Amino acid sequence: MVSGGLVGGLIGARVAQSESVRFNTRLPIPPLIDAAKQGGAVKLKVTSGRHAFLKGKPTRSYGYSGPVLGPVVRMRRGDEVEITVENTLDSDTTVHWHGLLVPGYVDGGPHQIIKSGGTWRPRLKIEQPASTAWFHPHLHHDSARQVYMGLTGLIIVDDGSDAGLGLPRTYGIDDLPIIIQDRSFDTDGSLLYDPDPDPQTIQYGSRGDTIIVNGVVRPVAQVPCSLVRLRIVNAANAQNFDLRFSDRREFRVIASDAGFLSAPVSVNQLRISPAERFEILVDFGNRKPVMLETGPDTVMGIFGAVSPDDATEFVSIMRFEPTATAGLVKHFPGRLVEPAAADADRAVHRRQFVLDSGICGGKRPTEAGMLPGLCINGKTHDLARIDVETRLGTLEVWEIVSIGMAHPFHVHGASFRILSLDGAPPPAHLAGWKDVVLVEDKAELLVAFNHPATKEHPFMYHCHILEHADAGMMGQYVCA
Ligand code: C2O
Ligand code: CU
Ligand code: CU
Repeated sequence: MVSGGLVGGLIGARVAQSESVRFNTRLPIPPLIDAAKQGGAVKLKVTSGRHAFLKGKPTRSYGYSGPVLGPVVRMRRGDEVEITVENTLDSDTTVHWHGLLVPGYVDGGPHQIIKSGGTWRPRLKIEQPASTAWFHPHLHHDSARQVYMGLTGLIIVDDGSDAGLGLPRTYGIDDLPIIIQDRSFDTDGSLLYDPDPDPQTIQYGSRGDTIIVNGVVRPVAQVPCSLVRLRIVNAANAQNFDLRFSDRREFRVIASDAGFLSAPVSVNQLRISPAERFEILVDFGNRKPVMLETGPDTVMGIFGAVSPDDATEFVSIMRFEPTATAGLVKHFPGRLVEPAAADADRAVHRRQFVLDSGICGGKRPTEAGMLPGLCINGKTHDLARIDVETRLGTLEVWEIVSIGMAHPFHVHGASFRILSLDGAPPPAHLAGWKDVVLVEDKAELLVAFNHPATKEHPFMYHCHILEHADAGMMGQYVCA
């Protein structure tokens, strides 16, 4: 038997779709902050506010410098950016730059707490290829709730290669952020999230019955009838999305988490797990409106799967309406950027990490009593324990093993290439540099350690199902 929440979720999504085919909320486009145009100084205010996820039903939410989500911050390679983060929430928080390759002491993990009412001012030196990254809270035991309440912002790292490649790059016109999440709402439109989730929610992660894109339900985007670049981020707590267009058109994946692929990869369906990013190019040249759809999550493992009926059910999550425009990009690029070489023979260590969503013995105290702890290699996360020591400038092979269900594994402060996924070479769209991988069974990763972290400010590695991470499926490494 699967959890009532899960089954209810899928049914809810289907009902919501059949009741209304109207996609008439404009896709919100987060404001763009160009760090260089502000002298390299960016301000973010962590606030609570009110936002209507459901049309006409405003409710309490969290956001960065606004009621929900946050701005898109553009940073250029070579820039030094000073970010002032002011925490006006009544709880502590942290801001983790997921995908930025910066030292441990400015990474924004659980050791860099910003107290309620406090301010944090990290300086970030941007030294990495063009990519789409994001930022979100990483407070010990309270990341899942804070993200659910709305704390998610995007980062565009720009290294100038876009122009040479002839890619769409006009923000808000043919270069759009697409942040996909799932939520459950009460009848008054308020977010349903239990800060002390029951053991079943901890094991599945929190899964909502309604999908939101850029913070709203069933949006519509007017797009030029040319190529449009979508920077897709799965910012859900736990849910995998399986994306396709309603007319099954092909689209091209041009980048994954840590940068461009060597060439566009044509697909007509794309699975994206929590925290993963893909940039895709979609051709709207035929001027026909089309829906973006998602299929159900089919990798729930031994904890249950959806019934065969549900397994084929796709739901529409947003609509695209092409409108006449001139002068935008019409042709797909042939080649993109050859990823930096990675030679597995140079790996200096091989380590294994077993992610187990069964109760592994660890327990954590909460107001509701002792809750089960989840483990990596039989240990729940301990802020005072360093699990792995790496050497700056080296490569290691990390073997990730998932027990119970598919876990999206993430490493801070490093990128990796997938050497093998469930015993096979990775498909072309997963063959570039990444920082998250959905592991159904087993993966071998070649991880490049080029950024320092001390034992006072270590880097994390963890499952990006946020309820799993909060419950202890996380470890810490240093790099010197
Ligand atoms: Cu998205 Cu540990 O982070
Ligand atoms: Cu991260
Ligand atoms: Cu997990």
